Amino acid sequence: MDSLNKDIFRVLIDERTIEKRVRELGSILSKEFEDKNPVLICVLRGAVVFLTELMKCMTIPLEIDFIAVSSYGDSTTSSGVVKIKKDLDIDIKDRHIILVEDIIDTGFTLMFLQNHLRRLQPKSITNCALLDKPSLHKTEVKVEYIGFVAEEDFYVGYGLDYAERYRNLPYIGVLKEEIYK
Ligand code: IMP
Ligand code: MG
Repeated sequence: MDSLNKDIFRVLIDERTIEKRVRELGSILSKEFEDKNPVLICVLRGAVVFLTELMKCMTIPLEIDFIAVSSYGDSTTSSGVVKIKKDLDIDIKDRHIILVEDIIDTGFTLMFLQNHLRRLQPKSITNCALLDKPSLHKTEVKVEYIGFVAEEDFYVGYGLDYAERYRNLPYIGVLKEEIYK
C-alpha cells in the first residue's frame, strides 16, 4: 500500500458518497442564492478541495475569495487562539457570503471568522461546512449547511490535514493513533 493510505485506520466517507453529498449541497445552495451573486469564502487550506468541488456543482453566478487562519499548528486539538494569516481581497460590503469551512470542531475558528466578516458589513453570512463534530462544540455556532456529521475522531483527507499531510486523499479517513500519539 502507498505511504498515505497505510496510515489510515478506517475510511469514514468514501469518494462516491462525498461527491453525491457535495452535488446535493451545490444544488440546494444554487436555489437558495439564485439572483444573489454570492461570494464563496474558502477557509484555507482545509476547505480548498470542498470549495472547488462545491463551486463546480453550483449553477448560478458567484465569486470566490480566500481567507487563511491558524489555530492548530501541528496538533490535533485547537489552541483556541485564532489568527488571520491572509485576509480577503474582494470588498464584501453588502454582499451575500457563503463561508466554506472544512470541519467544525470547537467552533472557535468559525466564531472568530464570523466576527471578522461582520465588521466588513456583508448583507448576509451563511455557513457551509463539509464536516461537523457537534459533540465537541465549545461555542454557540450555527452552521446552516453541513455535509456530514462526525464523531470525535481526528479525520484527514479531502482537504483535511494532519501536520499538513493527507490533504490529497480523495476520501475522508481516520488516522491511525500511532501516527499522532
Ligand atoms: P475549531 O476552531 O476547533 O472548530 O477547529 C476548526 C479547524 O480545526 C478546522 O478548520 C480544521 O482546520 C481543524 N480541524 C478540526 N478538527 C479536525 C480534524 O478532525 N481533522 C483535521 N483538521 C481538523
Ligand atoms: Mg489543519
